[in-house]
Amino acid sequence: MIGAVLKSRATGVAPDIAGGYNLPPPHVISHHRLVLNRQRMAARPMSVIDEVKDRIDIVEVIGESVKLRKSGKNYSGFCPFHPNTRTPAFAVFPESGTWRCFGACNEGGDVFSFLMKKEGWDFSEALRILAERAGVELRPHGSAEQAVDEAHQRLRTLLEAVIPFYRHNLLQTPAGAPVLDYLLARNLSEQALEKFEIGYAPNSWDATSSYLMDKGYRQQELKDSGMVSERESGGVYDRFRHRIMIPIRDVRGRMAGFGARVVDPEDVPKFLNSPQTALFDKGRMLYGLDKARKAIRTADQAVIVEGYMDVIALHQAGFANVVSPMGTAISESQLRLLKRYSRRMVLALDADAAGSRATLRGLTVARETLERQPDPIFNARGLVRHEGRIDADIRVVTLPEGVDPDEVVAHDPAVWTVLIDGAQTVVNYVLEVLTADHDLDDPKAKSEIARQVLPLIEDVADPVERETYRQNLARRLKVDERALIAWRPRSPRRRPRRDISTEARVEGAVSQRVESPIERFSLGVLLYDPELLYRVDRNLQALSLGRLSPQDFTGTEHKVIFHAVREALAQEEEEPARHWRSCIETPLLALSDSLLAEVIDFDFTQPRVIEEIMANFLRLRKRKLELTLTHLRFQLQAVQEGESFEEEQEGDVWHHTREVQRIASEKDRLDRALAGHGGPNQTTLIAEGW
Ligand code: GTP
Ligand code: MN
Repeated sequence: MIGAVLKSRATGVAPDIAGGYNLPPPHVISHHRLVLNRQRMAARPMSVIDEVKDRIDIVEVIGESVKLRKSGKNYSGFCPFHPNTRTPAFAVFPESGTWRCFGACNEGGDVFSFLMKKEGWDFSEALRILAERAGVELRPHGSAEQAVDEAHQRLRTLLEAVIPFYRHNLLQTPAGAPVLDYLLARNLSEQALEKFEIGYAPNSWDATSSYLMDKGYRQQELKDSGMVSERESGGVYDRFRHRIMIPIRDVRGRMAGFGARVVDPEDVPKFLNSPQTALFDKGRMLYGLDKARKAIRTADQAVIVEGYMDVIALHQAGFANVVSPMGTAISESQLRLLKRYSRRMVLALDADAAGSRATLRGLTVARETLERQPDPIFNARGLVRHEGRIDADIRVVTLPEGVDPDEVVAHDPAVWTVLIDGAQTVVNYVLEVLTADHDLDDPKAKSEIARQVLPLIEDVADPVERETYRQNLARRLKVDERALIAWRPRSPRRRPRRDISTEARVEGAVSQRVESPIERFSLGVLLYDPELLYRVDRNLQALSLGRLSPQDFTGTEHKVIFHAVREALAQEEEEPARHWRSCIETPLLALSDSLLAEVIDFDFTQPRVIEEIMANFLRLRKRKLELTLTHLRFQLQAVQEGESFEEEQEGDVWHHTREVQRIASEKDRLDRALAGHGGPNQTTLIAEGW
């Protein structure tokens, strides 16, 4: 760990970033240091993000799409993100500038995250639109940002320039001839190959790089674009050799990278993508979306297939609403991207991916580890949860054994339509796969199936849908539905005592300032050394608490930055301390650098410092729990004192009460851990009221 810190210092990351600050030599923390940081924070100029948040009235913005009812200082309403008609599960807290859904979404944030979720925008878009609305002028890019933009633009031009080179090699060289024959023999038309700009990378270590160097690109740019790999001895060689080249464009049609398929079946890997670069993030892009988005909107349906070749073949056959991931499991950010064009999505899986083992593995993963899944093709539980969170309608269909989509349409395009129309909801699909595999007269098999499917059903956001699945499951297993209900946590008989609400003080002891120094400090530390996150997670887990998550941070800008830290850790191509930069949207780079600058002079090699840093993450979690408690108590109060408190809402009250208890006990564990850590007289890096 400390080695990693030293390493990142040695590589020069730290000094670069420290930039304008006049840093004292690293030494043990003192009050002096604390004061120094305080001044630094106070002197921090108000950022555009702060200014927008200050000027925008969150109640007004949310009120445009959600009917809000005032309740004390706060507002409640029906959640726009999940089917919600019974108890208003959604609340807006004007003082902290936040919103929260207590129902199926169980999610909250600020005005940015609300619009991002609602409109499918990314942070930059939300910022641009809100700034406009608030009359805040988005600073013309700083010179650093401008330089980054220009560099990206140049990388795009570079990638754009390789396409004709690869096309030429495919169409006009002897080496390309058999490759072209192969593609045509697969029933791909010349028009389709042209539309998708398919090319061929010659079997050479330097043909591509020489071509690009001749065009005036520098070696560093070749590296940054992912077109070459580095030799141990220095120097570079072409990453793509003797492969079918598939240009990958972002949703706006700008070049981002390449997918490359082998020509020789003996070569490995079968597909080689561009590495993660500033332009290419395969977990957040979808192949073909630039060409499919119009058709998706028109058809009000998006079809997701597994492979590049399938996308091309389906477009050629007239099904233009088709996209594919790039060899990874479909992510929530990809689904959100699609949802901008339609909420109806169909996942067309190859037969083998539906193998029951993959399905079962996907089903039994604990929620917490979901994001860490090493790319299972199909993760039912993940899909159901994504579906609820982003309010999409996701269906699944399996292709006939041994046939890829391209073969289906080559045979008879009408069959494709029939297949897609027959797609099932994720739960029904899983039920089908599971029951197909089991002897339904065997009591143990029945029980096993129920155990697998019920948690999935519980995750379904819509209550009517949920009930239907339960009935369906009961019918399939030929058991009484009541036997299945016994699996659910029982509802309490009695109405919870009303005094919970009287005791609830909406204005808790929690600081209402959204942008807390604790958050800034924690993020700064993680940006400095992302690997510290593993240690933080272990500490939280030791207290039976969930891993650190974006939800521990209040501002969307902080959530987005935290997410980048996680992503940096999930890849292996670059040092995490460098990598997060390429995951962060440009408007957040300046903020990230300022967070980093605030922690840069701590001596991370001191055990005492590390210990304090860890305690600080516990405080961060504690603060989040306190905020959640405050919010939950408000919600309890709002539900119980609402005009129409009905018997059927008891379930919600009970649920919230249980949540309050659960969170209070988590907070208790944290309190005890922190109490063992040091009394109030000891110096801390971040005093609580800091
Ligand atoms: P054909 O076999 O030519 O029909 O291509 P396909 O696109 O149908 O490929 P396949 O069904 O084998 O794989 C589906 C998708 O998974 C591909 O399009 C790739 O995105 C991805 N994939 C398959 N093999 C690999 C691999 O070895 N490495 C990576 N990174 N991705 C792969
Ligand atoms: Mn295929």
